[in-house]
Order: sequence, then C-alpha cells, then structure tokens
Amino acid sequence: MIPYSRQTINLFDVLSVSKQLAFKSLTQGAKIEEFEAKIAAYVGAKYAVCVSSATAGLHLAVIALELPLHSEIITSPISFVASSNAILYSGHRPNFIDIERDTINVDVSLIAQEINSNQNVRAVIPVHFAGLPCNMLKLSEVLATKEVKVIEDAAHAFGATYPSGAKVGSCEHSDMTVFSFHPVKSMTTGEGGVITTNSNELYRKLLRLRSHGINKLDDSFESHLLCSTNGITNPWYYEMQELGYNYRLTEIQATLGLSQLKRINSFIKQRSDKAKLYRQYFANSRFVRPAQSFDNELSANHIFPVRIKFTSFDTSRAKLMNSLKSRGIGSQVHYIPIPIHPFYQKLGYKMDNLPESLSYYFETLSIPLYPKLTRKQQINVIQTINSLLE
Ligand SMILES: Cc1ncc(COP(=O)(O)O)c(C=O)c1O
Repeated sequence: MIPYSRQTINLFDVLSVSKQLAFKSLTQGAKIEEFEAKIAAYVGAKYAVCVSSATAGLHLAVIALELPLHSEIITSPISFVASSNAILYSGHRPNFIDIERDTINVDVSLIAQEINSNQNVRAVIPVHFAGLPCNMLKLSEVLATKEVKVIEDAAHAFGATYPSGAKVGSCEHSDMTVFSFHPVKSMTTGEGGVITTNSNELYRKLLRLRSHGINKLDDSFESHLLCSTNGITNPWYYEMQELGYNYRLTEIQATLGLSQLKRINSFIKQRSDKAKLYRQYFANSRFVRPAQSFDNELSANHIFPVRIKFTSFDTSRAKLMNSLKSRGIGSQVHYIPIPIHPFYQKLGYKMDNLPESLSYYFETLSIPLYPKLTRKQQINVIQTINSLLE
C-alpha cells in the first residue's frame, strides 16, 4: 500500500532513541533543551519551547497573548480543526476568512477588509497550508498600525522558507510560530510540536504554561513567606503562578527529534523533487491540476493536494478514493472546511462568505507525497488516477 503520507525512520533514529530509553532520563532533562536550542538555531528564532503537540502549542500561544475574553481571532477555514479549536479553548471566537484560489492560504486582502470594519479582531492565525508560507509581509503591512497579534500555524511548514530567505519560524512578521512533529509532518517526534518566538516575555510565559504554570528559570517568587527560611531559599520550593498544563515533550521524543533534525534538509529536498515531478506530469492533464497552482521552492511540501472537477466525470471523489485504495494507493482530503463540522455549525458558523473554501473542498484530493515515495510509485499514482478518470 502506498499511503498518502508516512514518516521516515532510519537506524540512527532507532539507535539514539533506544540508547536514551535504556540509559538516560525520560522526561524533563537535557535533551529537550538541546532540541530547543537546535530548532531555534535552524529556524533563526531566539527561543523555542517544545510541547506535546502543535494543538497544545497553539493553545498555549493563544493564552500567552493575554487577549480580552471573547476576542475574535482570524484564521483559515481550510485547516485541521486544531487551528480554530485552540481559539475556542481559550475563550475566544474564531473568525473564518476565505482562502485565495491559487495558494489555498487565507486571503490577506480579505483580512484587511475585516480588520478595518471589526474592532473585535485581536489576533490572526494564518495557516501555511501544505507547507506553503502565507504572504506574511503583506499581512504585516496590513497590521502595521493595528493592535493585532499574529501566531503562525506552521504545523505543515517546518523547513519552509519565506520569500525573504528567512526560515518559517524565525517570526520575522509574527509573535509566535507553532510547528507539528506528528508522523506525517516534515519530521517527527511521534506526537509533538514546538513554539518559536523572539520575545523573552512570551518565552518565559510559554515555559511556565507548558508545565502547570509553575515558575521557571529565574522567575522571582511571589510568596516571600513560603520561599525561604531565615533568608535562605527553601530547596524544595516551587511556585504555581498561573493556571498551566502538562504539555511537555518527553526526552525520548526530543531524542528522536534531534536525530530527525539532522536530516530535515534532505527530507524537504526529497519532498520538493517529488512535488516537481507531479507538477510536470499534471501540467498537460485535462483532469487534474495541482491545488497550489505554481511550483514553489519555498514550500515544505507537506502534502500534495490536487483539484479535480468531479462534477465533469462519471465518478465521485468517494468512488475515486475507493478505486485508488483497491489498487493500493492511499489518498485523503485536506480539509473538510472547519465551519461545516457539526460542532461549529451548532456554534452558528456558516459557509456563506467562504465561496473559495467551499469550491476547493468539493474538488480537492491529496495524493501520496513523502520522502521515501519512489519514482516508480509516483508514476503508478499518476497513471492510475489518469486511467480511472478517463
Ligand atoms: C494546520 C494544522 N494545525 C495544527 C495541527 C495540530 O497538530 P498536532 O497533531 O501536532 O496537534 C495540525 C495537525 O495535522 C494541522 O494540520
């Protein structure tokens, strides 16, 4: 079976994780710090805070902004539900803005219109869909005179690059960036994620929030009565200063992450080469076109969504997916627009102002893309799709 995506694990990953598991610490040790330092250096941010998932990272990032309760936060309807659930967890309201047809990223001109007419918008969570960076420069220009914060949902985009040449995660136009290390992402720690930022204040807050709200680093103690005896700091003492969570990554996961990080550039290159091959083959196709309509060297190419006008064929997407599956080819739909999930419908969300998102949803299908996908397998995928549609 050729899955739509899969992790790339080698013997070095296995050996390093086994060594950590057999001989070293399992949680809250030196590997996390080493992993965080290496991630910060790789993306070019001052700080990195590892977390148990990108969902946890988005949750903490939203809390760390300390927005007034019931603020509106703009995000993309074409994303995994985690992007907007993080907004709801924190007592705020997602405000879904339509996507651009060519990039499937949230449309920054529509964000500009919304922000000019809606004073309740306090933050934006752009999603770098399929690993293609949103137009962050344009977004920063739109927000230049506004008190609106930015958290990049870069769950798909570890290893991607902005047009400026800086890496996604350097936060050149945002307050924080959140990545996922779920197995289908650019690299993996099993489950896991990381938040990057250039703000020392946010960094310290994220460290506390990740671990129950307990003071970290050289945070000063609030209770002078409890913290010391006769002027000497009590050796057992720690202090919970705000309501936090246990969103920590384990040392075992960080060890896998460190091993994977050594090969990230090769993972990204292999994904890019395979995306290019798909583009070449589909360039003259009457049936299939890549959803992100231009080749982009900057993308992390996390998935390869194509668009097919199913209404023009004697087949449906369900039939095509089932036929592909019976021929050993996995596929997936990224994504069901978030506002049409029953939970969001019950909250009153509608698709009325999201025509591009809806038309994209009807036509999209993600076909296999991952570093170990061979050329032969790719050609098999292309030929099978073509023959099923003909
Ligand atoms: C855009 C987006 N944001 C957030 C997440 C959540 O990531 P995680 O599974 O690490 O919690 C995902 C997961 O697929 C995602 O696709």
